[in-house]
Amino acid sequence: MPQGEVTSQEVDRAVDLALAAAEQTHGVGRAMAAPGWVRDRVLTILQCQAERLGVSALLAAERLRRNQSAVEEIVAALRVGETRFYRDPLAWEAIASAVVPTLPNRPIAGLSAGCSTGEEAYTLAMVLASAGRRFSVLGVDRSQDAVTAAREATYSAEAACHLPPAYVRRYCEVDGSALQVCKELRSLVSFEVCDLVSTVPRGGFHIILFKNVLLYLASPAGEAVARRLMAELDPRGLLFTAASEVPRLCGVGIATARLASGVTAFRVGARTGSEPPPPLTWPPPHGGQEGGK
Ligand SMILES: C[S@@+](CC[C@H](N)C(=O)[O-])C[C@H]1O[C@@H](n2cnc3c(N)ncnc32)[C@H](O)[C@@H]1O
Repeated sequence: MPQGEVTSQEVDRAVDLALAAAEQTHGVGRAMAAPGWVRDRVLTILQCQAERLGVSALLAAERLRRNQSAVEEIVAALRVGETRFYRDPLAWEAIASAVVPTLPNRPIAGLSAGCSTGEEAYTLAMVLASAGRRFSVLGVDRSQDAVTAAREATYSAEAACHLPPAYVRRYCEVDGSALQVCKELRSLVSFEVCDLVSTVPRGGFHIILFKNVLLYLASPAGEAVARRLMAELDPRGLLFTAASEVPRLCGVGIATARLASGVTAFRVGARTGSEPPPPLTWPPPHGGQEGGK
């Protein structure tokens, strides 16, 4: 049937089938939680496959069960695991100067939720190590491939240009075209496969990095993951999203802490209706409600 005659229900059904196939074989997709851009991307690939086969998108989707390479094409289009060391320097500077010094003199627990290939988790480890703190960092991602790469901790030597030179000297071994995070730091960072929509790591975490992951998750699944992560924060802990994702969580009443110009994190406690966006200081004066109202 030509694409023009396909009903919107059939298009939805085709995309659901394709997402289910991707979920089943590769653990990506999350049919029920997939946001619009994921569905659009899947539909584009399905339409190309349908054209190649001379069938409707729905039929192409129904055939996915028997066509592993077609499923892989869809999965590849959904892997947008772009990441890098020291991504968003302002946030790292704020963590180093305004968050780490306020945490009690006990081991710090960090979580990189949606860690991709590990650069974010290792950057946090470098920041904590250079502050002279004891710590452990856990990175989780739903992609097994990403977690395997994160555990290997070996990157292109070009990755060094994103890091402050002192971090490269102290925590990385650069050998020709490869950069590896040093063994000592690697021993303090672990990685697990985990689909945050199904479960979140248990914790008492002091710093949770939940950055550039919300874009994969439709509403309300993304907000639900954020709330579950917030419940795993230490009372003095903070959760970070990418700056562009802050408004989405502000909108669901999670309390904020402004750490620096352009750097807002989320803290334990409910956002009140009268709370100005975003509050001004961290840590809050007198250890209670934050100032700046
Ligand atoms: C763009 S990368 C972000 C990496 C890193 N947080 C950063 O900001 O540089 C997004 C990562 O989130 C992961 N992800 C997406 N949905 C997820 C889910 N439901 N559970 C766990 N990881 C997820 C993807 O596999 C991908 O590796």
